[in-house]
Parts: sequence; C-alpha cells; structure tokens
Amino acid sequence: MPYGVGVFSISQSLHAYTLSMPTQSNTESKTGIVIFDHPLIAHKLATIRNQETGHRLFRAALSQIAGLMVYEVTRSLPTEKIDVQTPVTKAQCQIIKGTITIVPVLRAGLGMIDGILEVMPEARVGHLGLARDEQTLEPHAYLNKLPADIDAGPVILVDPMLATGGSASAALTMLRQAGATDIRMICLVAAPEGIARLQADHPSVTIYAAALDEKLNEKGYIVPGLGDAGDRMYGTV
Ligand code: PRP
Ligand code: URA
Repeated sequence: MPYGVGVFSISQSLHAYTLSMPTQSNTESKTGIVIFDHPLIAHKLATIRNQETGHRLFRAALSQIAGLMVYEVTRSLPTEKIDVQTPVTKAQCQIIKGTITIVPVLRAGLGMIDGILEVMPEARVGHLGLARDEQTLEPHAYLNKLPADIDAGPVILVDPMLATGGSASAALTMLRQAGATDIRMICLVAAPEGIARLQADHPSVTIYAAALDEKLNEKGYIVPGLGDAGDRMYGTV
C-alpha cells in the first residue's frame, strides 16, 4: 500500500475488513477507516503498549505518534488558491481553507495535542470531557468547551482509545450539535466494536487509527491494547 497506509471499510461482520479503495494513493472513502501500517508508528506503539513503559515515556511516544499521523489525516483537507509575491515573481499557492479545530477528549486525548500542534501550530483547540463508567461502560460528559464558530473549518476529534465507541460517538454528537460538519477522528488503538459503532452512528466521519486490535475483553478494555490510556499517561494507575 503506498505510504504504508491501508484504507478499509467494515462490511456486515465486525471482523470482516475489505479493501475498499483506493484508486489513487491515500485516497480514503468518506465512510472509511484508515489503518496506519508504518514502521516508525509501529515502533512507538510497541513502546506505549509495553507495561514497563513509565508515564513520562508513554506521554512522549503517544504525542509523537499523533504528530506523525497528522500528515496523512490532513491529506484530504480542503484548500484554496492564493497568489503570493516571491522575491522573483508572483506564484500561485495553495493554503488550507478555513480554521482547523482540534478537539481532544479528556483526559487521554490531551496527550495527543502537543504532537499535533507541533506540525499545525495555527489550529485551535476545543475540549470535550468524557469519562466512561467502569460498570456500565457508558460515557458521562463533564466538559464541553468548543469555539462558537466551530464550522469555520475542518474539525479533528482526537482520543487514543476507541473501545466500545461510546465516548467517541457521544463526542461526535456533541460536535454535530455545536455545528461541526467536516469531521475526522484520530485514535491510536481501535477495537472492531468501536469502529462498527461509529460507522453506524456517524457514517460520514473517517477514522484514522494507528492500529486495529483484536477485540474487547469482558471489562471493555481493548485486547491486546495498552491498558487505561489516561491513567498510564498521567501516572494515576
Ligand atoms: C478512555 C479513552 C476513551 C474511552 C474509550 O477514557 O480515552 O475516551 O475510554 O472507551 P469507549 O470507546 O468504550 O467509550 P476514560 O473514560 O477512561 O477517561 P480518562 O481518559 O479520563 O481516563
Ligand atoms: N479506555 C482505555 O483507556 N483503554 C481501553 O482499553 C479501553 C478504554
């Protein structure tokens, strides 16, 4: 696959992944999921999956993976032409159209922000706070701080873990209610169950995942996964 990126869509069965595209390198389907298959990302994922990795290294690697993923996630952003006066003559250039808003889902999504802003420092940051009830696995929303003109450009939702998909689905509903229309989501580790949930609830949102794992366990944790991302990131295990 060009650039080490595979484009997949889920058909009837949760575990049936079929290659849906692309006719051009890295073209993604509107309702698709893009799984990264890149040695550098895989290497850093091995670090954060390792239970021996402490919170300092965990945070650094998680942020770096998010930064590496941005290059591919932004490939489909709308652009506009502008004329720029170079020291020699006028050049027709392209710039990203509108204002990008990155929205981390607290807590764990916060850890992806620095890596993303490193390559997109002009982006705005909205915040959504959601905590998953450990018994019911239902998300509880405790913070909603988004720009009033969120639809002034593309919105990128970020959360390292897509498990049941309950939190991401609720976050996407909050973004829609705030007026967002052009939305993508970045996660690090996705479970098939979470992808199926998002494709049912929010079929127009493309999901970019660094890895697609096997399944959820009886406690709703991703297998093999990396444990509780928020706790590992902040040392609150
Ligand atoms: C984690 C993770 C996601 C959610 C995924 O957050 O960061 O938001 O769980 O699970 P789901 O797909 O089943 O909803 P958590 O609720 O543990 O909060 P935290 O980041 O504050 O630890
Ligand atoms: N949330 C996490 O942080 N990890 C999981 O495996 C599932 C949900």
